[in-house]
Amino acid sequence: MSAFHRETVLTVKHWTDTLFSFTATRDASFRFQNGQFAMIGLEVDGKPLLRAYSMASANHEEGLEFFSIKVPNGPLTSRLQKIKEGDIILVGRKAVGTLINDNLIPGKRLLLLSTGTGLAPFASLIKDPEIYDKYDHVVLVHGCRQVSELAYGEQLVDTLTKDELFGELMKDKFIYYPTVTREPFRNRGRITDLITSEQLFNDIGLPPLNIEGDRIMMCGSPHMLEDLKVLFEARGFTEGSTSTPGHFVIEKAFVER
Ligand code: A2P
Repeated sequence: MSAFHRETVLTVKHWTDTLFSFTATRDASFRFQNGQFAMIGLEVDGKPLLRAYSMASANHEEGLEFFSIKVPNGPLTSRLQKIKEGDIILVGRKAVGTLINDNLIPGKRLLLLSTGTGLAPFASLIKDPEIYDKYDHVVLVHGCRQVSELAYGEQLVDTLTKDELFGELMKDKFIYYPTVTREPFRNRGRITDLITSEQLFNDIGLPPLNIEGDRIMMCGSPHMLEDLKVLFEARGFTEGSTSTPGHFVIEKAFVER
């Protein structure tokens, strides 16, 4: 049996010169937990060319969705960015990843911290009704260099908060905090600085970071992840895993180099 499902591309949307998202069919046997990733890609010269991609769709949805960067000369993304409706993509049969609520000690506030395409696993998780059941607040922070890079997240949040089911679940619980570092915007600055200065918490009108209630998932720029890990560990937070739940979990965004 092949290690991959062959799925058909349904839609492709280009958000900026460097970002696009696409949807595809989903084999009924492909199971995953919201927040996980799988190897996906294309068949090139008869061989699979694959990279890790977080599912941006939730596991209760019929199709699959992915949010991708376009890396100039990137072996996969230079090809993947040209896919069209009807093309075939390969999707690995096994989904894995650490951004799983069971890897966290129960808490009151869930902070989802992302940069760039690191938003993808949280696009899936915020469509998981369970997190609104488990937390009093779910705060989605998305940091980008430019305002245009926020568009995918902005549209996702807009659609979800207007949805009949999710709108009700998210009301009074969900907070979206986009932030931009290299041009004017209503929220400015790096996620690390916004946490240490407490600006993030002041802006959203909630108490500052506290280890009793805060649980954190992070995905994005490797430098940001390193800095956030240091920041949280200095405050006594521990990293969680499947064997030992903790206060935070980390997944790097899988950018092609
Ligand atoms: P900045 O513009 O100040 O570098 P990138 O495109 O390089 O992956 O960055 C995505 C976002 O992550 C940018 O807003 C960038 O801010 C921010 N970023 C990069 N490195 C760090 C870091 N070490 N800590 C916090 N934010 C970071």
